[in-house]
Amino acid sequence: MKTVLVRFLPDDVTIEAEIGKLLLDVALEAGVFIPAGCGGSGTCGQCKVRVVNGSVDAQKLEKVHAAARAAGYVLACQSRITEEVTIDVPKAKLGRKVIPRDEADRMRQTATPMESPIVPEIRPMTLRVFMEPPSPSIDDNLSDYERLTRILKVDHDLHPVKCSLDVLREMPQQLRKDQWKITACFKIDDCGEGSAAARTYSLSRIVPGHLKTGPMAVAIDIGTTSLWGELIDLDSGKVLARSSRYNPQISMGDDVISRIVFGLKKDGLEKLQQHVSRGLNEIVAELVEKSGTSIDEIDYMVAAGNTVMTHLFLGLFPKYLREAPYVPAAQNIDTVPAQELGLMLSRHAFVNVIPGVASYVGGDIVSGVLANGMWDSELMTLFIDIGTNGEIVAGNKDLLMTASCSAGPAFEGGGLEYGMRAAPGAIEGVLIDPETYEPMIKTIDAKPAVGICGSGIINIISQMLKIGILNQNGKYADNLDTPRIRVGRSGREYVVCRAAESGLEEDIILTEVDLDNILRAKGAMFSGYTCLLDKIGLTVDALDRVIIAGAFGSFINLDHAITIGLLPDIPREKFSFIGNSSLKGARLAALDRNLFAKSREIARAMTNVELSEDPSYMDNFMAALFLPHTRGELFPSVR
Ligand code: FES
Repeated sequence: MKTVLVRFLPDDVTIEAEIGKLLLDVALEAGVFIPAGCGGSGTCGQCKVRVVNGSVDAQKLEKVHAAARAAGYVLACQSRITEEVTIDVPKAKLGRKVIPRDEADRMRQTATPMESPIVPEIRPMTLRVFMEPPSPSIDDNLSDYERLTRILKVDHDLHPVKCSLDVLREMPQQLRKDQWKITACFKIDDCGEGSAAARTYSLSRIVPGHLKTGPMAVAIDIGTTSLWGELIDLDSGKVLARSSRYNPQISMGDDVISRIVFGLKKDGLEKLQQHVSRGLNEIVAELVEKSGTSIDEIDYMVAAGNTVMTHLFLGLFPKYLREAPYVPAAQNIDTVPAQELGLMLSRHAFVNVIPGVASYVGGDIVSGVLANGMWDSELMTLFIDIGTNGEIVAGNKDLLMTASCSAGPAFEGGGLEYGMRAAPGAIEGVLIDPETYEPMIKTIDAKPAVGICGSGIINIISQMLKIGILNQNGKYADNLDTPRIRVGRSGREYVVCRAAESGLEEDIILTEVDLDNILRAKGAMFSGYTCLLDKIGLTVDALDRVIIAGAFGSFINLDHAITIGLLPDIPREKFSFIGNSSLKGARLAALDRNLFAKSREIARAMTNVELSEDPSYMDNFMAALFLPHTRGELFPSVR
């Protein structure tokens, strides 16, 4: 990608920027404050700047007065870089201040994106064979089923073959509909072992003629807050479509504990199961629509979720997950017919679930380990999945230890007054003027602001802490002269986006109650990985790398996350993010049945540490309810 220099006056800050990038984003990266009340949607007109030298590709110029246009004014949020350019940022009526350059450099540092190092072969869990068995005659009057199995063994080396009564009932007609030309579809049953010796072939349906469409599979991540799905072409290995939405169970509780409590009410478990299946059906419908395919072509679904989500998806009694000694109903689940789970897939379709390790270390984290490849690496790795249920794995190919902590939904925007997941209109980037305390906000897809996502919240808190809006207890300073801080319904609050500039008809605020939730969530994560490393006899300094997962891990700003004490204060180049590793692992397992078998091996190899039984967990948690931490020496780079 070609880059050019962009210079901002009057503070004379120069930054290298990619051609095509929005000027407002470049200013945000450079630490140059430009008022941007509407988050970049081009409606507030606050982000006017003057092009002094060079030019930009400016849109929505009708928002700029004709005289100002003639003088070179453009909207920074609607102008893209095309060449080297000098921009003058007018003194805004609320004042303006440049963030020092080294500070700005650190503030835009994100973890390095990481692709899964595991390269799957395309070895689906199903098989289709086109065949033309000879029709029976008076001299060859073997039964239909035996005729089929004989040809499968002799001509296709497929044996042993199993067949359900359902398929058998339809067999005589199906064989004869197209003069003994058929496509025989099988489920390959070696998914627990991965070896040819353990392999059997279950005839799942017989389709008259040569079936040329499909096969496809769906990979699913069942998160406590969100559901994510991908439709995979099992011939090419390509992802044909993606879809996500909130987990409909959210109306029955924000976190796993409240879901379990709901599940123990009369009909509660049934409702939870139906709700998640409804959400998955919506995802499948969207995947099929987006890809222009048909539900009939989907052979199977591979799902990964935390243990509670897996139990509720399968309708397993969840009570003992939350009572010592915290025992799941099952970890390795046999293949389940999709329709038994209320999924609107075909009768032949089935579901395989990635196995979990313990009550609160589920298939999502096993799937993540499968995808991040730490099971096959010498590097000492800390793998953190920051979600409602924070899950952590430490180790390498010789040792894998794991634990979980209840971080709550705050980092996914849940439980916060204006929290939301990372969706269009979510405030994700914020730069606060250190003199006026006015925020410059950036929303996802430059849509009018409708809430704040997890990464936006971390950005805001970190900056508020640095410029003194917040104290280290997570409370707003009470001696600042700014209308942005006021007393609201639940105490003191900061107005991140005013009603007139937001996509809602109300102010978007961050309250002290929200801050308290964030402090607890980050305290739980910090305490979790500190205790786990302690069990292996390591400190964070001994880590070769930290891999961050979770939908929100993709957007996280390292410096901000370290400033608030969420991530360990180690060299930034050791961090990488893998995005939704649970979904990536499910995709690998869907593509390659040997990798599904590997997920079972990984689950068996992982040792779980029950943090709720560990007194040091609570001590570490209490010590972390401070910004960044009560022991400042653990965060030496945070000034
Ligand atoms: Fe550009 Fe509002 S018009 S940020």
